[in-house]
Amino acid sequence: MVKAVIAIHGGAGAITRSAMSAEKEQQYRQALTDIVTHGQTMLAQGASAMDAVTEAVRLLEECPLFNAGKGAVFTHQGTHELDACVMDGRTLDVGAVAGVSRIRNPVLAARAVLENSSHVLFIGAGAEAFAASHHIEQVEPDFFSTPARWEQLQRALSSDEMLLDHDGAAQHQDDDPLDPDRKFGTVGAVALDANGNLAAATSTGGMTNKQVGRVGDSPLAGAGCYADNESVAVSCTGTGEVFIRTLAAYDIAAQMRYDGRSLQQASVNVIHDKVLELGGSGGLIAIDRAGNVALPFNSEGMYRGFARVGEPAEVAIYRES
Ligand code: GLY
Repeated sequence: MVKAVIAIHGGAGAITRSAMSAEKEQQYRQALTDIVTHGQTMLAQGASAMDAVTEAVRLLEECPLFNAGKGAVFTHQGTHELDACVMDGRTLDVGAVAGVSRIRNPVLAARAVLENSSHVLFIGAGAEAFAASHHIEQVEPDFFSTPARWEQLQRALSSDEMLLDHDGAAQHQDDDPLDPDRKFGTVGAVALDANGNLAAATSTGGMTNKQVGRVGDSPLAGAGCYADNESVAVSCTGTGEVFIRTLAAYDIAAQMRYDGRSLQQASVNVIHDKVLELGGSGGLIAIDRAGNVALPFNSEGMYRGFARVGEPAEVAIYRES
C-alpha cells in the first residue's frame, strides 16, 4: 500500500543571514507549512496527485512571498511574463503556458491546456485567449506587481545586470531570508497519491531583469517539470537556461529507469554534478514511485517542505548541517 506524499518548493538561492529577520523567516516557514499541509490533507481525503500539486502551486502563486503569480519579478521592460507547467505521471499528459501576463493563476491555465487541448504548450496572447475560453480568471498585468519586486528591478537596472548572477554582490536592503537578488524564484509541487499516481507542477515569474520573450525551464516538460509513474515526479528551480540544457527533470527519470540509479543518486548527480558543471545554480524536489523524497540544491538555501499522509510536515530553508 502506497503512502501518499507531497513536496513543495518556493525557490532556491543565496542566504544573507545578516539581513534576515526572525519575523520574515517565520512568514516563509508558515506559508510553506500551510500549503504543504493543505496538500497533505487533500491526499489524505483521496485527492489525486494532479489535483494536489495544482492546488499547492495555485496557493504558492497567490502568496506574494514567492516569485510566481502575485509577487512575480519584473522583466527588463518593467512587465511581468509568467510560465507554468503541469504533468500527469499516469498518462504523460502535459499542459503548459509561457509568457503570459494576464492570467491570475498560470498553473490553472496549464491544467486547462492539459485537459482541453491536443497541444502541450501555449504562449503569450494565444495562451491568454485559450485560458479565457476555459473561464480561467484574467487580471490586469499590474495585479502581479509588488513594491519589493519593483525595487529589485531598480537594483538590477542600476547595476546593469540580469539577476541571474548569484555571484554578484548582494545589495538588497530588506529581510528576505534568501537574498532576493540572488534567489531563483520558482514554485513547484510533486506528489504521489494513494493510487500510486505521480504528478508535478511548476510555476514562475522567471528572472528579474530578463529580456521580454525569454522563457526558462519551468514551462518545459523534461527541463523544469516532469512526471512518469514508472519512475519519478520532479519540479526544478534555478538557472533556467542550464536546467533546459541538461534536461534536468527528465535526466533524473532516465537515470532511474535506464541506469537503475536510486532517486537520491540521480537527483544528486543532476544538481551537484551536471547543473553545477554548466555553471547552473538551484535545486529540485522529487518523489519516486515508491514514495521516496529528494530535495537537493546546490545554492545556499531552498524554500521547501514535504508531508506524508499521517506524519508531521517538515519545512526548511537553509542547509540542514
Ligand atoms: N527557473 C526559472 C527560470 O529560469 O525562469
